[in-house]
Amino acid sequence: MSVTHAPETVDVLLRQDPELAEILLGEADRQATTLQLIAAENFTSPAVLAALGSPLANKYAEGYPGARHHGGCEIVDVAERLAVERAKALFGAEHANVQSHSGSSAVLAAYAALLRPGDTVLALGLPYGGHLTHGSPANFSGRWFDFVGYGVDAETGLIDYDQVRTLARTHRPKALVCGSIAYPRHIDYAFFRDVADEVGAYLIADAAHPIGLVAGGAAPNPVPYADVVCATTHKVLRGPRGGMILCGGELAERVDRAVFPFTQGGAQMHTIAAKAVAFGEAATPAFTAYAHQVVANARVLAAGLAAEGLVVTTGGTDTHLVTADPAPLGVDGRTARGRLLAAGMVLDCCALPHTDARGLRLGTAAATTQGMGEAEMTRIGVLFGQVVRGEIESQKAREEVRELVGGFPPYPG
Ligand SMILES: Cc1ncc(COP(=O)(O)O)c(C=O)c1O
Repeated sequence: MSVTHAPETVDVLLRQDPELAEILLGEADRQATTLQLIAAENFTSPAVLAALGSPLANKYAEGYPGARHHGGCEIVDVAERLAVERAKALFGAEHANVQSHSGSSAVLAAYAALLRPGDTVLALGLPYGGHLTHGSPANFSGRWFDFVGYGVDAETGLIDYDQVRTLARTHRPKALVCGSIAYPRHIDYAFFRDVADEVGAYLIADAAHPIGLVAGGAAPNPVPYADVVCATTHKVLRGPRGGMILCGGELAERVDRAVFPFTQGGAQMHTIAAKAVAFGEAATPAFTAYAHQVVANARVLAAGLAAEGLVVTTGGTDTHLVTADPAPLGVDGRTARGRLLAAGMVLDCCALPHTDARGLRLGTAAATTQGMGEAEMTRIGVLFGQVVRGEIESQKAREEVRELVGGFPPYPG
């Protein structure tokens, strides 16, 4: 197996814990020899990985810079202030909280800051691409709040904005949530702000997916419109696994207290340092070019899938994300995904609005980080069609994928 990053880390593990080292090497090998099309994944930079594997992992730091419950926080305080300042500058926000352990924790804290149990919340329904934190009965959100779901238009697949306004007028929610796990188009934040103002609701933008595109100037920024923006740092943004919250100065204290002490304990200082690194990287011209390439690649991939006969939801994409129905090729989403996985193309299934069928969800963030461009997306689209139709043996397709990704190692050298 090949060592694809941080060989010194692997050497330490190989000496001390070969069993775990083998697992690490196996996963590194899997990532380098299969095609990563999961829309929520990316390859972090070696600098982000270095911060994650640093001694900052040892530090307990409950509270906020300058007001910690533990001693010895003077150095990690600087790291958190740096992450906060970089996040504020990157997204034009008055306040940033970078402590959320995940996207879900960020949403939980946003609700805790603005809502009381039993409040009504209007969000994209789960069958249309809403996240579990947008009212699933299996999640705290569905148990503690009264969620009303809006949907997408059956014909166009676009958010049914008329329905949003009608439901808001009928239910007078305390908060409106916009954001999705699978919506491939830009969201009209100005519209949501207008509706929220009309009915006296807070607007929460869950920008977990597009926030990296926002950083690179390739998607609209929700910050000027939403009261609170929740996000993940590990998708297109290419940072460590984690969350963050952006808001205006007037909500800063409520948001901070909702994160700690209300929903979390000690901050993960190694992750916060890694977030600072990622925000620094995202502020560079190279990242702007990357974000635009991610979208260009997704557009070519969407067109390629359509050319192969899949039905691409909304007819295309504005983002890193493509969702498609393989039914015209004679297979359902689960079967198609199984064939693609056997061929080394790693992706997810997703709900298909207005049907009981499962579709396919894929994204271009990771492949673009590897350096793939439109030519590779065209090649992937063709191979995708062959695999889903069962025209090519999975072993042969697997070799083709291995040859393709072999030219784009995620961690060269
Ligand atoms: C819209 C949205 N919100 C929240 C989350 C939750 O993020 P996490 O998995 O980090 O909890 C996701 C994750 O994909 C998401 O897409």
